[in-house]
Amino acid sequence: KAAWMVATLMSGLMLSTGASAAKVYQVGTDAAYAPFESVNEKKEIVGFDMDVLNAVAAKAGIQVKFVNTPWEGIFATLANGERDIVISAVTITPERKQTMDFSDPYFEAKQLIAVGANSKLTKFSELKTKKVGVQTGTTGDEVVQKLLGKTNPNIKRFESTPLALKELLSGGVDAVVADNGVVINFIANNKDSKLKTIDDNSFAKEYYGIAVKKGNKELLDKLNKGLAAIKADGSYDKIHQKYFGK
Ligand code: ARG
Repeated sequence: KAAWMVATLMSGLMLSTGASAAKVYQVGTDAAYAPFESVNEKKEIVGFDMDVLNAVAAKAGIQVKFVNTPWEGIFATLANGERDIVISAVTITPERKQTMDFSDPYFEAKQLIAVGANSKLTKFSELKTKKVGVQTGTTGDEVVQKLLGKTNPNIKRFESTPLALKELLSGGVDAVVADNGVVINFIANNKDSKLKTIDDNSFAKEYYGIAVKKGNKELLDKLNKGLAAIKADGSYDKIHQKYFGK
């Protein structure tokens, strides 16, 4: 009887600590951001970020499950425990570092301006008096705020970057400012889309990181070890090659 009680107590303890079955880490991503994350015909979440995190997880010996999560509020899901990890082409910024922890950088990016193919705009500063589309709360939103002013009604905010780019196609905005990889991918996949890019030197380099709840050092250490391992053994380079051809 005593042994049975001990066993019952133990299994209860293991359940409550999550030690019974291998934990599956819930990973938030805003999967409208090809080639970093998107939903394919089979409704699977696929992209550069998924390949990177799957490779990292394999090295770190952890299990991950991607969950499509709206960008707005995505960071709050770490704080409230709905997600354990966010990988979503997230730029590491000093402000964000105050509310969550980031892995070592895994990708370098930059803002890029998209305009209509016939647009006469040639530089970022000329957007000051224009209607500019951004994805709400992104670093694109931040740089445009700096130029136009935070509350300027000419900043048109969208819940996803593709929605902003579609608005540019239909003429509702004069330009869109977003991460270079996504803008380039959108134009490449919409050959007749009649868009072009303006790459002046207005923007600083940005680095993507994998985010976890502030203070979750145990998980962060695993992710960083995994990242280091895939950088060291060439698997990161293979993934990069697959999506960016170099
Ligand atoms: N890198 C930009 C940022 O961190 C945009 C990321 C948007 N990612 C996404 N999956 N929608 O603000």
